[in-house]
Amino acid sequence: MRYVLLIFALTVALVVVIAGSRGGISRKPPIQIFSDMKKQMKLLPQKDDGFFADGRDWRLPVAGTIARGTPYQDWPVYTGRVSGLTNFIETIPVPVTEQLLARGRQRFEINCLPCHGPAADGNGVTKKLGMPTVANLHDKRIVELADGELFNTVTYGKGLMGAYGPNLVPQDRWAVIAYLRALQRAQLGMLDDVPAQFQAVLKK
Ligand code: HEC
Repeated sequence: MRYVLLIFALTVALVVVIAGSRGGISRKPPIQIFSDMKKQMKLLPQKDDGFFADGRDWRLPVAGTIARGTPYQDWPVYTGRVSGLTNFIETIPVPVTEQLLARGRQRFEINCLPCHGPAADGNGVTKKLGMPTVANLHDKRIVELADGELFNTVTYGKGLMGAYGPNLVPQDRWAVIAYLRALQRAQLGMLDDVPAQFQAVLKK
C-alpha cells in the first residue's frame, strides 16, 4: 500500500511538473511529447536546407513568368500606349467591325451601364442609390480623350471608379470603347450626317 501511495504521489508530481510548465517561457527548445505537425520536412524560403544544388530553397519563377496585373506584352492592344513610350494611342488598335460594336454594347450594358447609364450620360441606377459623382461620358473633355487613355481608365479605374481590367479582356475593353465612341457620336450628330432624303423628315 505504501508503494501505491508513493507511485501516486510521484505521478501527481510528474504531471504537475510537465503540465504546469505549459506556456512557460524558456530559451531552451520545448519538450515535445507529441510533436503534432510542428516539426516536419519542409523547405524554408530564406534558408538553405541543402536540397537544391544552388542552395536556394525559394525557387526562381519559370523563365517568361509575368507578374499579375502587368500587360502580356508592350503592344498598344494590351497597354493602350505607343510601344516603348508612355503616350496614349489616339485610335483603337483593333479593327472596328459590326461584331466588335455588338460585343461592346453587350459588355457596356453589363459592366458600365449600372453607373454610367444606357446612354453613358452618368444617369445609372447607382446615382439613385447615392453615387452622385459618376462621370457623364459626353463631357467634352472625355470625348476628346485619346482612345488609349479610355483604355487605361477602363483597365485600372480612375478616381472613384474601380478597375474593369479584371472583368474585361483587352479585346472586350476595345469593344466597349468602340461602342462608347458610337454613343458619343450619336449625341454629337448633326443634321448634315443624315442622308439627304431623310433630312426633310427630320426638319418637320
Ligand atoms: C461602379 C460605378 C461605375 C462603373 C460600373 C463604371 N464607372 Fe466609369 N466612372 C465612375 C465614376 C464614379 C467616375 C468618375 C471618377 C472620378 O472622376 O472620380 C467614372 C469615370 C469614367 C470615365 C472618365 C474618366 C476620366 O478621365 O475622368 C470613363 C471614360 C469611364 N468612367 C468609363 C467607364 C466604362 C467604359 C465602364 C465600363 C467598363 C465604366 N466606366 C464603369 C463609375 C463607374
